[in-house]
Amino acid sequence: MAANTTVIDHPLVQHKITLLRDKDTQPVIFRLLVREISQLMLYDATRDQKLVDREIKTPMTGMTAPVLADPRLVLVSIMRAGNVMLDAALELIPNAGVSHIGIYRDHDTLEAVEYYFNGPPDISERPVLIVDPMLATANSSVAAISRLKARGVHDMRMVNILAAPEGIAALDAAHPDVPLFVGAIDEHLNEKGYIIPGLGDAGDRSYAT
Ligand code: PRP
Ligand code: URA
Repeated sequence: MAANTTVIDHPLVQHKITLLRDKDTQPVIFRLLVREISQLMLYDATRDQKLVDREIKTPMTGMTAPVLADPRLVLVSIMRAGNVMLDAALELIPNAGVSHIGIYRDHDTLEAVEYYFNGPPDISERPVLIVDPMLATANSSVAAISRLKARGVHDMRMVNILAAPEGIAALDAAHPDVPLFVGAIDEHLNEKGYIIPGLGDAGDRSYAT
């Protein structure tokens, strides 16, 4: 396993990933589980966020208390499936910035095809957290990180619910500076680039396509 990869092996995360994998889990529950798992994983993945002191008054007295420092995190969703994780992250960090990267894998070549990018103009000066449930070949994630680096982003981390060993190795080779948080590392990729045992196609299972 790459040195900058953390497996979030909390029992609640592991339990919910098992439910997510089950082929009988329907889209509404699938999205709910992705939301819950994302929030549990974010707890660890945001541990390095900086705090500053703020003077406040409780009903009892004045005090100095910590709040998240500016500039706030930018949450980057690799569409489509990343959007479910993005919504969950925004519930926890409501005033985070948001960036969407539209990328899909070409079914034949498995190469990443980018079709959309949008994000805050000051993204290069802000910490960034990328979300996508799946890291398979890592072509999509490598492309997303390359796009963000081209925009000047230098402080990045990524959260994937499931990862293949091949994807972790590819990501580490291309972007060893980006810390990775995963819920589980599966066995391998099949000949079509799907994670085995995996959970199938995360976008299709989220949106019933
Ligand atoms: C899925 C998933 C990742 C990508 C992972 O997206 O959400 O973005 O595959 O595979 P990779 O590591 O081999 O690149 P998909 O291409 O199915 O796009 P979609 O969510 O728009 O259907
Ligand atoms: N993308 C998915 O959604 N699932 C996989 O198993 C691989 C890539």
